[in-house]
Amino acid sequence: MAHTANAKLNAWIDDVAKLTKPAAIVVCDGSQAEYDRMQKLLVDAGIGIPLDQKKRPGCVLFRSDPSDVARVEDRTYIASKTKDEAGPTNNWIDPAELKKTMTGLYAGCMAGRTMYVIPFSMGPLGSPISKIGVELTDSPYVVMNMKIMTRMGAKVLERLGAAGEFVPCLHTVGKPLAAGEKDTSWPCAPIEKKYIAHFPEERTIWSYGSGYGGNALLGKKCFALRIASVQARDEGWLAEHMLILALTSPQGKTYHVAAAFPSACGKTNLAMMQPSLPGWTVKTLGDDIAWMRIGKDGRLYAVNPEAGFFGVAPGTSAKSNPHALSTCTKNTIFTNCVLTADGDVWWEDMGVPPPAKGIDWEGKAWTPDCGRKGAHPNARFTAPASQCPVIDARWEDPEGVPIDAFLFGGRRPSTIPLVNEALSWEHGVFMGSSTGSETTAANIGAVGVIRRDPFAMLPFCGYNMGDYFAHWLKIGAKLGKKAPKVFFVNWFRKDGNGKFMWPGYGDNSRVLAYIAERCEGKDIATKTAIGWLPKPGAIDVSGLGLPADGMAELTKVDTAGWKAEVDGVADFYKKFGNRLPKALSAELDALKQRLG
Ligand code: OXD
Ligand code: MN
Repeated sequence: MAHTANAKLNAWIDDVAKLTKPAAIVVCDGSQAEYDRMQKLLVDAGIGIPLDQKKRPGCVLFRSDPSDVARVEDRTYIASKTKDEAGPTNNWIDPAELKKTMTGLYAGCMAGRTMYVIPFSMGPLGSPISKIGVELTDSPYVVMNMKIMTRMGAKVLERLGAAGEFVPCLHTVGKPLAAGEKDTSWPCAPIEKKYIAHFPEERTIWSYGSGYGGNALLGKKCFALRIASVQARDEGWLAEHMLILALTSPQGKTYHVAAAFPSACGKTNLAMMQPSLPGWTVKTLGDDIAWMRIGKDGRLYAVNPEAGFFGVAPGTSAKSNPHALSTCTKNTIFTNCVLTADGDVWWEDMGVPPPAKGIDWEGKAWTPDCGRKGAHPNARFTAPASQCPVIDARWEDPEGVPIDAFLFGGRRPSTIPLVNEALSWEHGVFMGSSTGSETTAANIGAVGVIRRDPFAMLPFCGYNMGDYFAHWLKIGAKLGKKAPKVFFVNWFRKDGNGKFMWPGYGDNSRVLAYIAERCEGKDIATKTAIGWLPKPGAIDVSGLGLPADGMAELTKVDTAGWKAEVDGVADFYKKFGNRLPKALSAELDALKQRLG
């Protein structure tokens, strides 16, 4: 049927409809009226809860099923033709076998539901860096979220035209409805039936059984990272799990920084930070994903492929991220937060007193002393980026912004200094590849161990990570002298009493200012065995009241700790066998030598 002007898209829609048997098909136009219609549909069904329109205009709250609250990494697959192509860090299933299993699950899975066709653009429409995807989904909640997180609807179809290319993204909640059956408030499939599948050679995504976040909003992690990383490798660019910020000095010079941190390390907070250092400003261009290409002038240019923020609510406060709080005061979708008696939302560590009573994320009566958390630790807000008070004027610039510095970092309670500058691009890639973070209660597995998460891409790289490191080395060789500088930062050092040694949040601007000065080539760093470290006094810590030896401790080389780090990285590198680029084993050896 002629659902759109694109023959390939029409054929795919018909094929999927034949298999999944939806009751109706709707092609989304991306209008506000359509968004309002979806919201009304969900509210009328008792699934969405409208918030007080004076306090939170245009906002609605959803509660997910307790079994469907986060990305499911062990149900996420890279089904490349061979296991070797997916590499040692990804779950692999033979694509033919996976397609057979999933086709079985998809049969009739949309019965009693509407199938929505969501044409979307990752990146500003028409930008040379942008790419088009089409998501087919039976979830109106997904339609609403995709409207905020991407540019979607009729204008994308126009751009796609009759013969344009798109990434097909098939999604279902995996809960068909029999005739007359009443829907549940958060339909989904049991965990063993959930599949988040990627077919990299075909640039195709199949997702079954989850309605939550990155499992269901397929433009985000599935397309913009896992599939895009493969496209980037083949086409000579970078698709990265990075925030993008613009830092402006008191003299009015702007520096663009892209930064990769594992999940739960404060990426959104850093992206929108309010600098404590007088005269410096930070504007945000993105909080999660950066797509970067080499521009005509030979520099690396970044765009944020997303149009909204899908931020973790708990912990977001006036101290940690005042601008995120402002961003989600209107037109925002909240998921799994506490509903207060006066029709507002609340979450743990919001920095405001809890309501005397409310309804928790599971829909149960809740009081602050009931012994349970009110919001789920992975409760989220979905808010338009345009509402962020510090959104950068260039955030939708189709050409992107030139990157001056890359930051890598993680939660490292010991050894890793506050800021360490790479000695070369290869050394920077080594730093990225050895990125790790202490696990927290939010991660699965043991708490307090270092989980290696290279480039913060461990759950998001769509191919063999050894080849991914090689790709970074190749991009550096192309950039030559125009390559951004690389820094490793650590806001999470602890002292002997387990207390954080660095205040973090807005005071991280002091480190950003130092980084900007290093980009200017200022002689404020000392070359050490592990990289360039700040000279005494190079970072402005006035007014912080750090202990006398605080900065010395935060910027020293802990030789014994680093020797253990070398062993940890060597152990991790073994995974990659002969796919590990020689340049990286050489960097590891050189570091070992320098440590003596
Ligand atoms: C995210 C993540 O949801 O990185 O952004 O886990
Ligand atoms: Mn992320």
